[in-house]
Amino acid sequence: MPELKSRAGFLRYVAGLVGVYGPLGTLRLVLYELVYGVRFGFETLGMVSGDALAIDRNLQAHARPYLPTPFYFACHAFRHLPADVSDSAFVEMGCGLGRVMLYASEFPFRKLVGIEVSEPLAAAARRNLERFYRKWRRRSPPWQVVCCDAAAFDVPVESTVFYFADPFDDTVMAPVIDNIVATVVNARRRAFVIYVHPAHPEVLTDRGFRLVASEIDMNNRGFSIFTQGGEDDATANLERNR
Ligand SMILES: C[S@@+](CC[C@H](N)C(=O)[O-])C[C@H]1O[C@@H](n2cnc3c(N)ncnc32)[C@H](O)[C@@H]1O
Repeated sequence: MPELKSRAGFLRYVAGLVGVYGPLGTLRLVLYELVYGVRFGFETLGMVSGDALAIDRNLQAHARPYLPTPFYFACHAFRHLPADVSDSAFVEMGCGLGRVMLYASEFPFRKLVGIEVSEPLAAAARRNLERFYRKWRRRSPPWQVVCCDAAAFDVPVESTVFYFADPFDDTVMAPVIDNIVATVVNARRRAFVIYVHPAHPEVLTDRGFRLVASEIDMNNRGFSIFTQGGEDDATANLERNR
């Protein structure tokens, strides 16, 4: 298989981090990468350019290239999740090489689902998850990596925690969020959306999601958490769509 990740691109990215986060902020990110890399492996570190995703041109026009969520942000964002996630599936839209699915496997989700449009990345994510469970001799929760456009994915009704690390623009984001509202919220379940580097928060707020937590810097780096659902929101949505 050709080399997916571009080392030169990644080094440029790291150099850019110093400009965005400053030396101390970058040092903090690097320390988290080292600590969590020992646990989850370093295979998810790197960058994959848009061309190397090997996807249809129309999809590529709306897709972001692969860049992993820094572990620092994943750790801080997951602290805002509900205390009990055991009856919930975790769904990551644009799961890339599986980094956040690996991290989510430390939580007692009922199931982990990754959606990735690029076949080479989806295949690599499956290998990374298999390697992790083999290495630590861990019994894996049920998991799957589905290779498809997130907008075409039928959201399972038991999904309540969704993760987006700025995977695509609002053209794709809008139907994905519509699907979540139609399936999860209208079934009177509460949906949580973790949105890292949130480029299009209005797609969520326009559809009735409320911001519950946010750690964003002036460069819009960080994460926001949105929620919607439960009895009241379902009734309001059904009335809005009537
Ligand atoms: C910025 S990366 C985030 C990777 C991963 N979520 C993480 O945080 O480590 C965005 C990912 O979304 C994927 N992607 C882009 N458009 C997509 C679409 N329409 N459906 C599914 N995945 C998509 C890209 O291939 C890429 O792997």
